[in-house]
Parts: sequence; structure tokens; C-alpha cells
Amino acid sequence: MNIIRLGFNIDHVATIRNARGGLHPDPLRAAEIALKAGADGITLHLREDRRHIRDDDLARVSASIDAPINLEMAVTNEMLGIAIATRPHAVCLVPEKRQEVTTEGGLDAAGMIETLAPFVARLKDAEIRVSLFIDPDIAQVEAAARIGAPVVELHTGTYAENYGHEAELARLASAASRAAALGIECHAGHGLTFGNVAPVAALPPIAELNIGHFLVGEAVFLGLPVVIAEMKARIVAARHETGVSQ
Ligand code: PXP
Repeated sequence: MNIIRLGFNIDHVATIRNARGGLHPDPLRAAEIALKAGADGITLHLREDRRHIRDDDLARVSASIDAPINLEMAVTNEMLGIAIATRPHAVCLVPEKRQEVTTEGGLDAAGMIETLAPFVARLKDAEIRVSLFIDPDIAQVEAAARIGAPVVELHTGTYAENYGHEAELARLASAASRAAALGIECHAGHGLTFGNVAPVAALPPIAELNIGHFLVGEAVFLGLPVVIAEMKARIVAARHETGVSQ
């Protein structure tokens, strides 16, 4: 049985923090807890508009975390400079449009071979493992091979939205097999949940899953009993200490 890794995407911890403009909850603390709980790596997306992860988060995570860091970023000169200066274990190149809520659709590797080949080469020269976030299409996987990308991450958004339709799982399976045949390591991610992750995790060529939104959302529910009990205990104890009857 080959190994499968879980990359925890901390972007949405930063989204919650930014909603109040303070420091809590700190995405670095979430990364540390996730690694202790069994995550194998930390993924974070430094968007051009810095809507969740900020430069300072990337710097702090890079300085404090020993596990592999996977930096998701757009294909821009600014991001290339940041990646080369920071030297994360891996960079995942993603398409980015300012207006989108999240990363909608994969990178058009087949239509960007001329742009991507030198960009990927610069990252590889800096000893960064490069992956291309692409739709599960054979043509995109083959373009990744021509570009020289050692890794692809298959976009599972359409699979997740159409969960139960065998055709979407079959698309992932054949793109993953094609990647393996071309010697490309295959990752997958986007929209994965407790409910839909198993069939993707079972595909033999898939070596890593990157998951964020569901994990952060579900942590709210699984964590609420603990934090409510702790807060209630503290406020009741404070009232007792004053000697005032409840
Ligand atoms: N992989 C990539 C390349 C992504 O852009 C995202 C979304 O940030 C994910 C994985 C994780 O998706 P989700 O947050 O839906 O789990």
C-alpha cells in the first residue's frame, strides 16, 4: 500500500482572524495543532489581494514549522520573488482572479506552456517542488509533463459538486493514472469533505490531498462543546469568587 499525505490548508483560519482585524485565531497555531493531530504538511495561499494569508503569516509559518510547506500562488513575478526568497518545500501554481470566492477551475497548463515552462524552471532551480493545479483532463496532465512540472494537483471541485456521479470520479482516476504513467506525482484537492473524500483517497496514484474549508468549518462544530464548557466554567468560577450568589 502506498502512502497518502494530508496537507491542511490554513487559509480560512486567517479568514476568521481577518474578520476582526486582530490576531485571533492565529493560522500558525492552527498549523501546529493540525500537525500534532496527524496532518503531514501545511498549505497556504498567498493571494495577490492578501484577502486571508498575509506575507507575515507566510514568514512566521516558514520560520516555525518543520513539516513541508506548500505555498499556493499565482503565476506572477511578485509571487516568484516571494517563493524564491522564502523557499517553501513546494509551490502549487493556481489561477487567480480577484473577483472569485475561491480558486475556480484549474490552471490552463495546455494554453500556457510558453509562460509556465520558464516559470517552473525558475522555481525548480531554487529547489522548490512545483505542482500545477489543473482540472482532471488528460490534455492538462500531458501539458504539465511538457512544462516539466514534477507534480500536478487535480482539482476535485467538480467531483465534489457532483458527488455520486461516477463519471467525475472516473475523470480523476484516468487523469491520475496518466500522471503516474508520465512520472508525475499526483495530488488532489478542493471541496473535499468527510462525505466525499474516500473514493479520491482510494485512488492509488494520489499521494497527497490538500483540504481546508471543510476542516476549518467542521472544527467549529467539533470544537464548540469544549470551548463552551470552558467559557461557562470560567464565568461561573469568576462569579463564585466574588461571593455574589448566582
Ligand atoms: N488545493 C488548491 C490548489 C486550492 O486552491 C484549494 C482552495 O484553497 C484547496 C486545495 C483546498 O480546497 P478546500 O478549501 O475546498 O478544501
